[in-house]
Amino acid sequence: MTTYRIDKHPILPISKKEQITFFWGDQKLAANKGEMIASALFANGVRIFGHHPKDGAPQGIFCANGQCSQCLVIANDVPVKSCMTEVLPGMRVEPIDELPRLPQVDNLPNMHAIDTIKVDVLILGGGPAGMSAAGELGRRGVDVLLIDDKDRLGGKLVLQTHRFFGSFEAVHAGTRGIDIASILSGEITGLPSVKIWTNSTALAVFSDKKVGVLRCGDEYVLIEPQILLVATGAREKSLVFKGNTLPGVYGAGAFQTLVNRDLVRAAERLFIIGGGNVGLIAGYHALQAGIEVVGLVEALPECGGYKVHRDKLARLGVPIYTSHTAISANGNDQVESVTIAKIDDKFQPIPDTEKSFACDTILIAVGLDPVNEFTFKAREYGINVFDVGDAEEIAEASAAIFSGRIKGRMIARELQETNEEIPEEWSHTAQLLKSKPGKVGRENIPPWEEGVFPILHCSQEIPCNPCSAVCPKGLIKIDKTDIRQRPQFIDDPHQCLGCEQCVAICPGLAITLVDYRQDQEMPTVTIAYEFPLESLGVGKKVTVTDSVGEILGDVVVEDLRSIARNNHTVLVKVSAPKEYAKRIAGIRIQDPSICQPLPQIEERMEDDTIVCRCERVTAGEIRSLIRSGCRDMNEIKAVTRAGMGACGGKTCTPLVKRIFREEGVPLSEIKENVKRPLFVEVPLGVFAGTGSPGADLTGKEEAGDE
Ligand code: FES
Repeated sequence: MTTYRIDKHPILPISKKEQITFFWGDQKLAANKGEMIASALFANGVRIFGHHPKDGAPQGIFCANGQCSQCLVIANDVPVKSCMTEVLPGMRVEPIDELPRLPQVDNLPNMHAIDTIKVDVLILGGGPAGMSAAGELGRRGVDVLLIDDKDRLGGKLVLQTHRFFGSFEAVHAGTRGIDIASILSGEITGLPSVKIWTNSTALAVFSDKKVGVLRCGDEYVLIEPQILLVATGAREKSLVFKGNTLPGVYGAGAFQTLVNRDLVRAAERLFIIGGGNVGLIAGYHALQAGIEVVGLVEALPECGGYKVHRDKLARLGVPIYTSHTAISANGNDQVESVTIAKIDDKFQPIPDTEKSFACDTILIAVGLDPVNEFTFKAREYGINVFDVGDAEEIAEASAAIFSGRIKGRMIARELQETNEEIPEEWSHTAQLLKSKPGKVGRENIPPWEEGVFPILHCSQEIPCNPCSAVCPKGLIKIDKTDIRQRPQFIDDPHQCLGCEQCVAICPGLAITLVDYRQDQEMPTVTIAYEFPLESLGVGKKVTVTDSVGEILGDVVVEDLRSIARNNHTVLVKVSAPKEYAKRIAGIRIQDPSICQPLPQIEERMEDDTIVCRCERVTAGEIRSLIRSGCRDMNEIKAVTRAGMGACGGKTCTPLVKRIFREEGVPLSEIKENVKRPLFVEVPLGVFAGTGSPGADLTGKEEAGDE
């Protein structure tokens, strides 16, 4: 059977993993030891994980993060979320094609008492915010238990192969997300008062002020913290359009999980919905993994993500369709194409503007919702609770790192009853890092045609300063009190050393270095490049573009430099005519033919615009209830079952609210669903202690520690 593994990557190391075998139905398949079932299935080309018992619709993944329950399969007789369950040697995995049958139980399960563990601080989530907070607390000797549902710390950082924006001094800007994850986890590993439980999931917050945690998948414990810090991050929003639950339509974060964490070649041809940072970055990551990116639609007239991310994608050859939306995902059992259309200023499709593109995957990247149910329940039950990172407010990971430090320090002050200062400038920095992309100005191309100097193609105000921080002569200036200001190169082409450090570190790959010293007619231009080098070579021709992706011409590669200090960023030196040398900003890697629309428009006839994935409830059903006067989400749930499924309404609740808004009903008129304490589904037996009887809680830290 063909395998869908990534065997080369410009940033991620490809190491040989120990192989195991498991069964998918009757088929014996290979898997990497330690990977999740969903990843192992994708790596074997299996993208349909079953068919919904209600209408037989094919099912695949959506979030790959344990949030949506789309990926249920039967593993060794038990229904499990395949994206969160490790595949084991000899495991029998089967699709769910009907309601799962209860497994045969021969003996009474071995039940035992549930332990309660008291801690000063329980942190839910080992992403950037949780780890930073744990560091602040641990360095002050506060007793902390940090839990995370993955097998390693880092949260979404472990999916990010690109360099981060933000402040070089405060949050490791200019360093790749995967490396920041290692730095932060290294800072807390070994702190004596910080215990770390990976593979452990917070399930519920109870009225007796305890938090139910499933440790290592089978051992249920109650944690009684003095303070709860919720750093659970965010979940991806879904979107309603025809065919929106076909296997092959899933979240951009899920795609990054498969591609960057598990090195699975999850797609051949990709289309992206949403021009925020998540969608733009996912497109970049796809190209790095050798996956074709056919296009990206954004409903607004401009992409909402950083312009440097948008431009980077356009330079590589990905068309970006603003003021467009996806009309349908097409295909019988899985995605075969997408149809898009231009929209008017009321976001309605404009007739006769439809286009269809062949693709096997459609990524939804239309924003994130905070995972905040633990915070609200804890507040309701009077637990002393703080929230931080995306669980508090959706922002960049760099902001989460910094906010984590502040919250950690605040909690330490409260517990230790000290007056330790939280530096005043910290809250200023936190606000800067959270700020949305600002004004776009004209690209600053200097008039000189002599000497050597960088060209700063970054034309938008965003919080970012690594270029300024690494310039050995301090020639790139950014206002230190407001790093959102655009960088300025000092007004002199003769002071620059030509060291190229600014080119190599720029997270937006938005700096080039132009050197006229050897040849004033054909200066050299140094371009940062983060792709496999096969198509490049000294003496070969490459197509270069300006900062927004317009082709300037074909030029010859003079030199390629890949030095360890640059951490996989290759510096490509080309010689180019002086007429456009200063406008060069990137190298096109994708052939325009990849992005051509199909000759005919694909139309989807079925009315399968799904709002509740778990119970297969359509937008039409919800809309007709709202039109009949229903304003209570509980009634909608009772009548349609929307929100009653396995995910507990995590995916559909925002979509139902959106339909209310579309129908002109203000949210103030809506009665919210009643939320129960349990937020993550588990077999009932875990509450009776049926897993790991008599497990030694105190002895397990090492096993779970990073
Ligand atoms: S895809 Fe597994 S829970 Fe969402």
